[in-house]
Amino acid sequence: MKQVGREARAEGRLAGFIPTMGALHAGHLSLIEAARRDASPVIVSVFVNPKQFGPGEDYRKYPRDPEGDCQKLEQAGVDFLFAPPVEEIYPAGFRTSVNVEGLADRLEGKIRPGHFRGVATVVLKLLEIVAPRFAYFGRKDAQQARIIGQMAADLALDCEIVVRPIVREPDGLALSSRNLYLSPAERKAATVLYRALLRARSAMEEGERETMRIMGLMRQEFAGEPLASLDYAEIVDADSFEPIMRLTRSCLVVLAARFGAARLIDNMQVEIVESGGGAGGGVICSL
Ligand code: PAJ
Repeated sequence: MKQVGREARAEGRLAGFIPTMGALHAGHLSLIEAARRDASPVIVSVFVNPKQFGPGEDYRKYPRDPEGDCQKLEQAGVDFLFAPPVEEIYPAGFRTSVNVEGLADRLEGKIRPGHFRGVATVVLKLLEIVAPRFAYFGRKDAQQARIIGQMAADLALDCEIVVRPIVREPDGLALSSRNLYLSPAERKAATVLYRALLRARSAMEEGERETMRIMGLMRQEFAGEPLASLDYAEIVDADSFEPIMRLTRSCLVVLAARFGAARLIDNMQVEIVESGGGAGGGVICSL
């Protein structure tokens, strides 16, 4: 794998890399499509990273579908699949980890201590092995994308981090490998994530700027869904991931909830375009 990336670079080609944990779906494929537009060769890794799962989380049960993945990657025109065994990424005696201070302790990082340390560590290692010019991430995992971008800037990585939009099912549920855990009833209930985001969007479009009130509306949406258990519904600064009180700048509405065995996350990006604080329009929401 090291040879592939380095040879491409030596030949002046721009390699594109998509790190994944497999059980590939249309969200992953959208990243591959983007890579195919700007880069060649296109390299995908499938590695279920034990270091980003906490004790009691779903590392063992995490969906694995090597044959299905290979077929999808071939169909998508991917040039290389990198699927290393765990011992190759973490040989006995492995001791190094990467922590992106502050950003990694909030929201997902608070509920899943050590999660982002595991993510940053494996992503840095994979980027070092593959040496791509571009690496692609989904905004579905907005905090992850922000942390990887920060790591790349802080460590002057020679790789551009590209963040792509969220791919959703027709009813709004964001695609995720973990959707496979949902029972039919939970699958229906899981659209509450999207419904809550739509509710927040309507309120913002109607001029609501107090984040407490918007969060209240989202909680109300969840209260009507008995199969959902909300971990958080927050509005945070898009850069620092600190909670904000009023919508005055670019922010993210972030949600996490459990549906039986599945813990799902979603988010909406919000740009404020008005100069004054008056009601009526002035927000651009990206779901
Ligand atoms: P995984 O969950 O497999 O996701 C791989 C990439 O696909 C991530 O960048 C994720 O944000 C993106 N993705 C997932 N669902 C998406 C959707 N519905 N729309 C758009 N993009 C989507 O994220 C990981 O793996 C791991 O943490 C990893 C970065 C590989 C490190 O182990």
